[in-house]
Amino acid sequence: MAAYTKVFMLIVLNFHCVFGNSQLPLQDDFHGAKPTRGEPWPLPQSYTPSAETFSLNYLSFEFRVTGSTCDTLTAAIRRYEELIFGERSKIDNRLKFFSGSQRFSSADGSVNSLSVHVQEACDTTENKYPALESNEAYNLTVASPDSQLVSNTVWGAMRGLETFSQLIYEGLDGQFEMNKTVIQDFPRFKYRGLLLDSSRHFLSVDILKKNLDAMAYNKFNVFHWHIVDDQSFPYESVLFPEMSAMGSYFGLSHTYTQANIKDVVEYARLRGIRVIPEFDTPGHTQSWGKAIQNLLTKCYTSGKPNGNFGPIDPSVNSTYDFLKKFFGEVAEVFPDHYIHLGGDEVSFSCWQSNPQITDFMKKMSFGSNYAQLEQYYMQNLLSIINSLNKGYLIWQEVIDNGATVRPDTIVEVWKGGYQKELAKVTKLGYHALLSSCWYLNLIAYGSDWKRYYACDPWDMVNGTQQQLDLVIGGEACMWGEYVDNTNVISRTWPRAAAVGERLWSNKDVRDGTKAAPRMAEHRCRLISRGFQAEPINGPDFCEHEYRGV
Ligand SMILES: *[C@@H]1O[C@H](CO)[C@@H](O)[C@H](O)[C@H]1NC(C)=O
Repeated sequence: MAAYTKVFMLIVLNFHCVFGNSQLPLQDDFHGAKPTRGEPWPLPQSYTPSAETFSLNYLSFEFRVTGSTCDTLTAAIRRYEELIFGERSKIDNRLKFFSGSQRFSSADGSVNSLSVHVQEACDTTENKYPALESNEAYNLTVASPDSQLVSNTVWGAMRGLETFSQLIYEGLDGQFEMNKTVIQDFPRFKYRGLLLDSSRHFLSVDILKKNLDAMAYNKFNVFHWHIVDDQSFPYESVLFPEMSAMGSYFGLSHTYTQANIKDVVEYARLRGIRVIPEFDTPGHTQSWGKAIQNLLTKCYTSGKPNGNFGPIDPSVNSTYDFLKKFFGEVAEVFPDHYIHLGGDEVSFSCWQSNPQITDFMKKMSFGSNYAQLEQYYMQNLLSIINSLNKGYLIWQEVIDNGATVRPDTIVEVWKGGYQKELAKVTKLGYHALLSSCWYLNLIAYGSDWKRYYACDPWDMVNGTQQQLDLVIGGEACMWGEYVDNTNVISRTWPRAAAVGERLWSNKDVRDGTKAAPRMAEHRCRLISRGFQAEPINGPDFCEHEYRGV
């Protein structure tokens, strides 16, 4: 037995020497997952492809609007026309899908048009922006000679156009092909978010837009914009322009003007994506304090201010006067009904050191319970937001610390042991949003998307149906400590796609190994659409590689 082991070890060691460690398959890798052809990501709720193949003539293919219409629909159709066929007049410039020649096609027929039928009026004020309750369902039938896309709303039509574009693949002769297919589709969760952090590193408007494109290609519908934090304050306020003047990293080149923000919000709207800004308080506010005097708590050592500042000072009225004005502005600038108010990681030590706060605690009979002081602050802030007729999201600590909030509050669960945390939050009757297992900034060697793919918002400890119904979705988070314009796209994509499918597709779509070939195609699709989407299945290739242009 011992001798046998030694011989075996020798062979293994030899193997290492000859091929090098990197040749040994890692447990998490999906080596050689061969890309599918023309299969959608995320997987539709009901997807019935067939082996019947049609060709598309890039010169004569038409999109036809047969239902209601509006600017968002027209813009979406124009976008997808361009995405699928490129500029038809400049065929030679196209990288992907060269013109080919229809006469070599082995197709069973051709698809000449897609009729797009939106049933509800889409040019109304209440349908101008996507919202939490928007209906994103659509039905898509790919047939010859004409295909049909039917949806209630323009948002559903956008999701369907994306799916339609994904079903088209490059035939062996280089022509556009797609299979006869029937799809009935709708999202499992109505909130499918992605967080980017523009405070730890500044992100340019172009990169934010690029990311919004990638989100649309993965059916995400909320951009959670963690716009400011301790490190920098790039939001250029109308009422308090000194906040970004003094709190941004490097003056005007590192700020978002009101025009920039309008631009991002409009770009997102046209893609059916909501923009929810996060202005995190009372902690995470060091950059706010640079311009606003007496907003932050002065920290003390041995009875004297030591020059450091803590969280926002909850004990003075000037704080709430400022917050009323500031959030009044934010409520107008960002059209979505929801604002994220943060509320995470509040350190009590500075509050504890400050004698005025100690006096205030006595006056309020809080004893030495600083969580009660935090609750006092949050409740004041929440009533300000209430008076602005906005809804709010908060990080789970607000609830963990025992604050009571409005019943329709959305509580974002980010701590470990999420199965228990989700159960706790929903037991209290609050809406919950999961992000614990989707901190994509925590990178690891190997195919880590499989872990994101395995995590599910319905994995709740002893969750009743009522509790499961309170989970509105989840968010992939890309925190910015080590992420800026140079790597945010490649680090986020296609890893976030795993979360996209988890939040959109049926709960039974859970097998990562089965999904890997579709993921491989989807990564290549993102590359052919111009994204630096990083390899995630181990050694492999795309037919059209990223070429740095
Ligand atoms: C599409 O049709 C081709 C040719 O018949 C077939 O090989 C392929 O499996 C089909 N794709 C799907 C998703 O069914």
